[in-house]
Amino acid sequence: MSGGGRGPGPGSGTGRLAGRAALVTGAARGLGRACALAFAREGADLLLLDVAGDLPGVPYPLGSASQLAHTAEVCRESGAAVLTRRADVRDLAALESAAEAAEERFGRIDVLVNNAGIAAPSGRPAHEITEAEWQLMIDVDLGGAWRAIRAVGGRMAARGSGSIVNVASTAGLVGYRHFAAYVAAKHGLVGLTKAVALDYAPRRVRVNAVCPGSVRDDEAMEGRMLAEIARSLEVPDGEHRAAFVRDQPMNALVEPDEVANAVLWLASDESRQVTGSVVTVDGGFTAR
Ligand SMILES: NC(=O)c1ccc[n+]([C@@H]2O[C@H](COP(=O)([O-])OP(=O)(O)OC[C@H]3O[C@@H](n4cnc5c(N)ncnc54)[C@H](O)[C@@H]3O)[C@@H](O)[C@H]2O)c1
Repeated sequence: MSGGGRGPGPGSGTGRLAGRAALVTGAARGLGRACALAFAREGADLLLLDVAGDLPGVPYPLGSASQLAHTAEVCRESGAAVLTRRADVRDLAALESAAEAAEERFGRIDVLVNNAGIAAPSGRPAHEITEAEWQLMIDVDLGGAWRAIRAVGGRMAARGSGSIVNVASTAGLVGYRHFAAYVAAKHGLVGLTKAVALDYAPRRVRVNAVCPGSVRDDEAMEGRMLAEIARSLEVPDGEHRAAFVRDQPMNALVEPDEVANAVLWLASDESRQVTGSVVTVDGGFTAR
């Protein structure tokens, strides 16, 4: 375990997670990478987990092994001790083994970020979704978070501390046309957040959700979800940013670090009375 905060220097934080260990799923790229980096800068040690390969049925490339290695490298540059794991959040045994490895190396897991998720197969009305497509979406975007909670939550409860942050979506709060399975999974994730918050409140383990709006596919984070959602909706290439911005009350897409900052706050002691909450980072999208 790294103990105290990181030294001064570019990108260093103020030690808000000093001495803490965090497990972040879906950490190869995108919001998972942004969270991992924010945590590393604030002093956390990390187990970074990702399927790091494509999944049958998902019509776009997922994070890769080299992207996962790159996230680990930039976190180590910020001073974090980092373990990486290739695992599918549909595999409970793999999550239990990852939790075991993190505890062995860091002595504890203080924070779990359930960020791994897929946005497609989508883009069709509910009656055209196949059974296999439905199962895949629910199993990854909802079941994956429950499995990681199953692997980690008991350890946190036994120790009497911990913070779990579920990365849901505005699709966990409102509907989107032709995204029934994704919307159902993310609404389920918001419900899971509230129920598990009550399970663990007496043990001082907090459980919250962050609901990002449309996040810009940042080059440094190698995110590609917005482009994939646009593709599902048949928005032509090159037009999707403008199309999503048009829907934003604040006239801008959300930046990955703006989501990571909310996750960081929920992970840290600054939010110690906050549990069962849903924090939207959506530029006002769901305020209408
Ligand atoms: N980007 C957005 O606009 C946006 C908006 C709202 C919510 N979200 C949510 O944020 C989370 C991260 O999205 P992102 O934009 O960074 O997407 P992304 O596709 O860039 O990254 C997702 C990561 O999760 C990993 N992953 C997917 N399925 C997995 C599985 N079964 N097991 C382990 N890892 C798996 C992928 O390999 C990838 O590295 C998702 O849960 C997504 O639903 C994203």
